[in-house]
Amino acid sequence: MVEADVTLSSGHTMPTLGLGVYMNEECAEACQVALQNGYRMIDGARYYENEVQVAVGVKKSGIKRENVFITSKVIHTDFTYDGTTAALKDSIANLGSSYYDLYLTHSPIGGKEARLSAYKALLDGKASGLIRSVGVSNYSAKHIEEIREAGLEMPVVNQIELHPFCQQKPIVEYCIKHNIIVQAYSPLVRGAFDNPVIQELSAKYSKDPAQILVRWSLQRGFVPLPKSSQPERIISNGQVYGWNIETADMEKLDALDRGTEGAITWNPVDAD
Ligand SMILES: NC(=O)c1ccc[n+]([C@@H]2O[C@H](COP(=O)([O-])OP(=O)(O)OC[C@H]3O[C@@H](n4cnc5c(N)ncnc54)[C@H](OP(=O)(O)O)[C@@H]3O)[C@@H](O)[C@H]2O)c1
Repeated sequence: MVEADVTLSSGHTMPTLGLGVYMNEECAEACQVALQNGYRMIDGARYYENEVQVAVGVKKSGIKRENVFITSKVIHTDFTYDGTTAALKDSIANLGSSYYDLYLTHSPIGGKEARLSAYKALLDGKASGLIRSVGVSNYSAKHIEEIREAGLEMPVVNQIELHPFCQQKPIVEYCIKHNIIVQAYSPLVRGAFDNPVIQELSAKYSKDPAQILVRWSLQRGFVPLPKSSQPERIISNGQVYGWNIETADMEKLDALDRGTEGAITWNPVDAD
């Protein structure tokens, strides 16, 4: 099912699509099904309280650890250098593997000093081999500029809420300019498909609304992270390769943008 992986600024490669596991504490089966059906990336987080379940799912899938791209994230309440270092070590123990492929600061909440302390701890985790690539989540350009101004290595990824209703264009433009890959969270608008354009395109292409949304994300150059806990949906959400949404139809989806007003999650990109 895969298209060519993307190359991160760290030199490592990352699949173009990942399984989200938020609000799925018992996610082992979902991870197993996803990996056995072509997915190669799992998007976890400490906040989701299922790092152990991710590990169980990867193991049960029979896919070798080195062929799976696993992400976790540190919560802002652990944003001190020592707090983040301890959180990372605990994540590693939960995974039962010596490294994460990608580890993110989950949000910019907590202020500049806290953000930079957490980020430095992750860079040191990378230096000691616990993390392959370091990134951020829910960061606006302002938050990433702090990293650049501090002379630190730039994040490889910024994971933000991203779907046709909430395109976060200023952040996306900044990331493209700085070679930061944008991961799209809540790419399915959490199942809110009752929009006439989505319905029209679903009928036109004979694809599920979810597939239309994931395909839009891929064609825009994002790395979507659709979540499902249901095996048949996990499989169909990944069947998004080998066909295209035409340019005029992409533009119809683009026109649904309502900026940050279209956000359906916490979207804390404006944190001080
Ligand atoms: N960094 C952050 O702050 C942040 C925030 C939010 C999310 N994320 C990440 O992004 C992932 C995805 O975001 P999300 O979980 O918020 O939302 P999402 O992927 O947009 O939508 C998930 C919802 O859609 C339903 N769904 C999935 N496939 C479907 C289909 N084919 N037809 C109908 N309904 C379907 C799911 O229900 P079922 O499970 O019952 O199928 C679930 O309720 C998360 O799991 C997480 O990994 C990160």
